[in-house]
Order: sequence, then C-alpha cells, then structure tokens
Amino acid sequence: MKVFAHRGFSGKYPENTMLAYRKAIEAKADGIELDIHESSDGKLVIIHDEKLVRTTGRDGVVSDYTLKELTSTRASHTFDDAYDVTIPSFEEYCDFASKGSFVTNVEIKTNNIWYQDIERKAVEMIRSFGLEDRIIFSSFNWISVMRAKQIAPEIECGFLYCDNKHIHLAGQAREAGIQYIHPDFKLLDDGIVADCREHGIGVNVWTINEESHMRQLIKWDVNAAITNYPDMCLRLLGR
Ligand code: G3P
Ligand code: MG
Repeated sequence: MKVFAHRGFSGKYPENTMLAYRKAIEAKADGIELDIHESSDGKLVIIHDEKLVRTTGRDGVVSDYTLKELTSTRASHTFDDAYDVTIPSFEEYCDFASKGSFVTNVEIKTNNIWYQDIERKAVEMIRSFGLEDRIIFSSFNWISVMRAKQIAPEIECGFLYCDNKHIHLAGQAREAGIQYIHPDFKLLDDGIVADCREHGIGVNVWTINEESHMRQLIKWDVNAAITNYPDMCLRLLGR
C-alpha cells in the first residue's frame, strides 16, 4: 500500500504549502495529495477552500485575487501564523515534483466554482514539467475528471466521492477509462474492495488519520491511504 500525504504533511505543518510537501517527502511518503483553484488572472494555485479565511485569515475567495497576490499571502493561519509560508502556485509545485520521483494526486476543486478550462491548464503545466506518469487527477466533479481524461488520456484519474450512492462504481470506472476510485473511508467495505479488484480498478482512500483505519486498509491492500500523518502510516507498514 502506498502512503499519500493529504495536503502535504498537514498533520504537523500548514496544509497545502511547500513546507508541508517537503516534509511529506522527507518522511518518505510515496505521494502528495493537493487541491487546485484558479486566481483572478487565470493561474493555478494550491489551496483547499474557495474562501481564504481559514488558512490565511484574508477575506474573499481565491478568484478575487491575482497569482501575485495569492503567492505572497501567508498560509499558516491554521498554525497561528507561526510559519513564514505562502500559498504555492501550481507551477512552483510542479517544479518541486519534477526533481523527485513521488506521485501527486491533483484534486481539481470544481465542486463549488467551475473554473474555466482548469483541467487543460493543469495538463499543460504537468506536461511542461514531464510529470504525466506521476499524476493522478481526481475531483468530486466527475465532469472535471472526464475532461482531464479526454484532454490527457495518458494521465491516470480517479472518481472522488463522499456519499454512498456508488456501490457499483468499479465497472463504470472501467468502462469510462478511469483507473481509480477515491472513496471516503467510511464508505468502503469488503464488497467494494472485491468489486474493484475484479474490475482492475485501484482504490485510493481518504482521509486516514486513525491507526485502526490504517490497519484495515493494509489488510484490504488498497492502492493508497491518503493521510495527514504519513509518518504514522509508514510506521505501521514497517517502512
Ligand atoms: O482527495 C481526498 C480528499 O482531499 C478529498 O477531500 O475536502 O480534503 O479535499 P478534501
Ligand atoms: Mg483534497
């Protein structure tokens, strides 16, 4: 089982910052999960919420600000502004990833705001750094997933979901040319794991922060656990 650091090593460092990504890789995580949005001037930035307030203390939403404004905005508000870190651009991240060998799960945050052509922009950036074979796209918005797959058939994709309507998703994913499902842990059971195995669909599960959940995933031998605590998961795996 692989270990993906959710928003970087977000259990110990400010989420979705270069510091949290670097620390995840130093801890020997196999991959990093991150969330992309678009600035007012149409550039890709990494942050979880549409609203800036929780992670930066600023008013407004991501698309109110330019790339320059966002990348000079401190992003450690969840840690009482203790770290001198800012919102990363997706370009800065891709440059970092191009120097390593880890996987990146790029979650396209189009579930609330539909950014114009965000999938194509992400693919262009990924291709410009030669990262195609180390990316997994996912989104709660499955039209975004299908658009990414259509634009870049060579890049792996997963259907992300958080409700229980998708019991027979593995067969549909296979038919759609999608490689993974990304369920919330509480929706996964023996039947879904077996169905995915039968259809050749990988399972990447979020957000796994409890030891008992990690142990269950190891037993199921899923493709990846997406966790805020990659160190804990790696320890359980004996790595
Ligand atoms: O991609 C897994 C997980 O990140 C999905 O939920 O809200 O943490 O982006 P969220
Ligand atoms: Mg996410």
